[in-house]
Amino acid sequence: MGPRITLVQGDITAEHADAVVNAANSSLLGGGGVDGAIHRRGGPEILAACEQLRRTHYGKGLATGRAVATTAGRLPATHVIHTVGPVYSRHEDRSELLASCYRESLRVADELGARTVAFPAISTGIYGWPMDDGARIAVETVRTTPTAVEEVRFVLFDAAAHAVFAAALG
Ligand code: AR6
Repeated sequence: MGPRITLVQGDITAEHADAVVNAANSSLLGGGGVDGAIHRRGGPEILAACEQLRRTHYGKGLATGRAVATTAGRLPATHVIHTVGPVYSRHEDRSELLASCYRESLRVADELGARTVAFPAISTGIYGWPMDDGARIAVETVRTTPTAVEEVRFVLFDAAAHAVFAAALG
């Protein structure tokens, strides 16, 4: 059986979960949206861990669709899993890369032994992915990925995004 899927409206940095997923960019060195909020609220420990990862493993940055874990610093969560969503394109289907973000994040969560994982709606902000399609891919991928994670919590910033995810859950 797959993980239980729950929906929450709010700020992902407030989530008490074994892991929260960051909608990062390949530099791993911060940005706006979820990424900015996680680094602001989590404090400098997260950035230091990201800089270390860049030095040791990802000299050219983390590829789109991949995921990697760090400490969660001062966040109430235990770990942050950073993943790099694709920028939306009307000319090229990048759905497989978006699905990969959810799959790879769950794989990393399994490596960490995480039981509860909170995800934002990856790529649906600054990266421009339409919310309904992003929600469909998120739900489908979590439902079809084998994992020991018990609860996947989608944390949606506003009521509109929450409603779109509720519809995608069916
Ligand atoms: N908690 C939950 N959801 C949020 C929060 C929050 N604190 N803040 C925004 N959202 P985005 P992306 C929603 O832009 O599209 C950064 O600069 C937001 O409304 O955070 O993957 C990175 O460094 C949207 O629905 O991520 C990258 O360069 C969703 O979270 C780039 O943005 C994702 O929005 C990544 O863009």
